[in-house]
Amino acid sequence: MSDPIVIAIDGPSASGKSTNSKIIAAELGFVYVDTGAMYRTLAWHALQSGTNVEDAAAVEKLCRDWPAELVRRGDSVWLEVDGYFPEEEIRSSEVSAVVSHVAQVPFVRDWMKERQRSCVQFGSLVMEGRDITSNIFPDTPHKFYLDASAQVRQARRDADGVEENLAARDQRDSTRKAAPLKKVDGATVINNSGEAPEETSARIIALVRGS
Ligand code: CDP
Repeated sequence: MSDPIVIAIDGPSASGKSTNSKIIAAELGFVYVDTGAMYRTLAWHALQSGTNVEDAAAVEKLCRDWPAELVRRGDSVWLEVDGYFPEEEIRSSEVSAVVSHVAQVPFVRDWMKERQRSCVQFGSLVMEGRDITSNIFPDTPHKFYLDASAQVRQARRDADGVEENLAARDQRDSTRKAAPLKKVDGATVINNSGEAPEETSARIIALVRGS
């Protein structure tokens, strides 16, 4: 069997990563991995357990001890906590407000990196997040950075019905020490303001097939 292919997609909040990654994975028959959902699941777990998310040592301890494991459900991979995937809960305003605190803890990033890299056990991947092109799979030739104007991204999030100021989270994600969001050399930057997801996905698929 040939080696798994990894399509790595990074970008700021509401830049179209999830929508496009799902379309691309379905079209190519690859497994879809939403790494943001993994950080959100830990943030949800922290809120559930009353952990202070701004206390890095407490978050590290929580991460060391939590009963979470990677599970493939259909064509996607998630983290389940005690056999439960909090699919709806992780999209709440409460989780969105704290997730970037949890995500800046170095131990958490190492923990996630190990699991995310191990996802190739499930086959070829479309993996989206903030550090997939820079840190998780920097050697893949299929690297993409999605972007859209701040106005378009905020409008998309408002349309989701989730109250959130994206700018604060984006700022934390781009300026943290551990694996910040950035555009790496070799990544194709696609600004998709004013473009339908099908068009963006078709561009990415064409580039992957052509390379
Ligand atoms: O849905 P949205 O694009 O707003 O965010 P997400 O992909 O669900 O990611 C939620 C948060 O998890 C981000 O704001 C980051 O703080 C963190 N994250 C990260 O640090 N590294 C990743 N690879 C993915 C997400």
